[in-house]
Amino acid sequence: MLLLTKKGVKCMDIKQLDNFAKEIIKEAGERIRKSFSYDLIVETKSSANDLVTNIDRETELFFIKKIKTYNATHRILGEEGMGEAVQSLEGVVWIIDPIDGTMNFVKQHRHFMITIGIFIDGVGKLGYIYDVMRGDLFCAIEGEGAWYNDSPLRKLQPVKLEEAVIGINANWVTPNGKINHEKLISLIRKVRGTRSYGSAAMEIAFVVSGKLDAYLSMRLAPWDIGGGTIIAKEVGAVATNLNGEYFDFLGQDTFLIGNPTVHKEILTNYIEQL
Ligand code: IPD
Ligand code: CA
Ligand code: CA
Repeated sequence: MLLLTKKGVKCMDIKQLDNFAKEIIKEAGERIRKSFSYDLIVETKSSANDLVTNIDRETELFFIKKIKTYNATHRILGEEGMGEAVQSLEGVVWIIDPIDGTMNFVKQHRHFMITIGIFIDGVGKLGYIYDVMRGDLFCAIEGEGAWYNDSPLRKLQPVKLEEAVIGINANWVTPNGKINHEKLISLIRKVRGTRSYGSAAMEIAFVVSGKLDAYLSMRLAPWDIGGGTIIAKEVGAVATNLNGEYFDFLGQDTFLIGNPTVHKEILTNYIEQL
């Protein structure tokens, strides 16, 4: 299948692009696994909890070099800012988080993901979430379906809120300036259970594969969710900001992804932004 951008430039065969993306994701994963045998340089960014390492940066650079060699017109919006300044999603844009869950990478040596979304003229076409230590890949091609390794992911079935397991960071259930935490406490009392994995991409991978029924956060960036939202669409998961609108892919935004029934109930009855 050939894809055209709005300008009518013939850009590529989607299957070929998919194969290329999978190949470089697995190669990057191999490089990250090997990095445990040498020293990690850990720095903080916006806060003491916001970590970055030399491996995050090296991995992003690895992707940029590979992608630019594949097609120099593709642009890269990466967390570590090593691609170009992307101010629109025109053309082919790769949204990349080289390591999602850097704290897990540094502290636990597991539960961190490479996640990539490939957008063409703003439409998500190919999505990937790769669990580096397990070697597990969640992926999707727009309109063709989603897979967990070689197995197709099934459409999500309705779940009652009281039987749902949701992903949420404990921060949002303590008093904070962004959301009414009392309402979230009542949500937590209502559901069957909660989990917090420390990687937004991992929580999204669990929602699309039915291991979680929803995940919410008050502040995520495009690279945290770009790949995941493309997979979500293929399994019928709903992904919006906390106003129920499209996530802002050129900035930061609130985020709620879930099984459609659970997403609707949470949004309607338990979210009050401050
Ligand atoms: C972070 C993780 C974390 C989420 C943070 C993200 P990073 O990404 O996804 O689970 O709560 O908001 O920034 O910094 O490890 O790539
Ligand atoms: Ca991230
Ligand atoms: Ca990251």
